[in-house]
Amino acid sequence: MPRHFLSIFDLSAKEFKTLFKRAAELKKGKKAGKNQEVLKRKSIGMIFEKLSTRTRVSFEVAINDLGASCLYMNPSDLQLGRGESIADTAKILSSYLDGIIIRTYEQHRIEEFAENSTVPVINALTDLGHPTQIAADLFTIVETGKKLNKIKLAYVGDGNNIVNSFIGAASILGFHLSIATPKGYEPDSEFLKKAKESGKGFIEIVNDPKNAVKNADVLYTDVWVSMGQEKETKKKQKIFKPFQINEDLLSLANPDAIVMHCLPAHKGEEITEEILEGSSSVVYEQAENKLHMGKAILEMFLK
Ligand code: CP
Ligand code: NVA
Repeated sequence: MPRHFLSIFDLSAKEFKTLFKRAAELKKGKKAGKNQEVLKRKSIGMIFEKLSTRTRVSFEVAINDLGASCLYMNPSDLQLGRGESIADTAKILSSYLDGIIIRTYEQHRIEEFAENSTVPVINALTDLGHPTQIAADLFTIVETGKKLNKIKLAYVGDGNNIVNSFIGAASILGFHLSIATPKGYEPDSEFLKKAKESGKGFIEIVNDPKNAVKNADVLYTDVWVSMGQEKETKKKQKIFKPFQINEDLLSLANPDAIVMHCLPAHKGEEITEEILEGSSSVVYEQAENKLHMGKAILEMFLK
């Protein structure tokens, strides 16, 4: 049975630490012009049913740097796009490939794929979670010198895939996660339940952004309208207005607080341009770290 990375809960605290260490080593190597070809001669496939700039390109470069070859498959070019089953697609593709990276809609699609795959499957975002993003983001926080088990991370915005994965991470690594969402837009209740059962970390939903960011070390936000929710744009733009990361909100956080966003950002909506481009922002470091963390993840699951 291959080991898949379908959810943040698939990682232990020890594995997170291994990933942070390896991402740092691989980043240093890349900067020095020395890539470690630990996946030489492997073939890795990528199927993205939603758009992507960072995740797709960083994984493609990561695969090349690790000495493997990458096959990007547009779902509409596969028979999957005209109704071949997920199960058959997984059985066939996994008989050719050494690993498959998937971005899709409902979580059950990637789970069904993984159940029928003889090689590891990696989640590159579903409606429910974005575990590789959160691993890269936590590595970015570690790089700033902050201790993960000591931080308060304030998430302000929509209760979406990003915050769901943070909930899992808080319960594995033991940090304080304070979540401010409008009523009715809270994160996934199953993720919350699972995290609470683990007993580690402190996760709270406060609804008021001011309460969430008070004394926070990290402020995080994401788009109000995730991919696939475009029909809700007008309604959400109104409801989420008080949930913007701006100068006033940042002033309530700790003086050395950092601001994070997985990108793409809608400047002027969930975050102001001055904060996104300001001195507290680490958003471009986050984006770069997707490359280094992507390699560490591929090595952990595929080597
Ligand atoms: N952050 C992130 O996953 O970006 P993309 O949608 O561009 O991959
Ligand atoms: N929540 C966003 C994240 C994009 C990287 C979305 O799902 O569209």
